[in-house]
Amino acid sequence: MADPAAQLICDADAVTEKGKGVRFEALYRGEYAPAFVIRHGGVVYGYLNRCRHVPVELDWQAGQFFDADGEYLICSMHGALYQPDSGHCVAGPCRGQALLALPVAEQDGRIYYLPPHAS
Ligand code: FES
Repeated sequence: MADPAAQLICDADAVTEKGKGVRFEALYRGEYAPAFVIRHGGVVYGYLNRCRHVPVELDWQAGQFFDADGEYLICSMHGALYQPDSGHCVAGPCRGQALLALPVAEQDGRIYYLPPHAS
């Protein structure tokens, strides 16, 4: 990874299609915050692990972000459903809002977080 600020999250094969996500701590606005990556449609997406209804972590067990069908990300607290590829909430108390997306990159078999302030 050419970007010196890039933060290694995990090996790429640790994040499987519709499978468990990988949690990590993302440097965001000067502080470390819970975050995660998941894979959907072959692409890795990263989000802050913070529901838009109440700022709690989404996963009911560590890394369990998808609903039973593997179609949506689901908040374990009140069941808000988020689109995996955009983070938009399509059902639940925060419908119309969106998870905060984080820039991540998959390269050479690894997944990295690219902090927004990095060039
Ligand atoms: S806290 Fe996530 S849906 Fe209420």
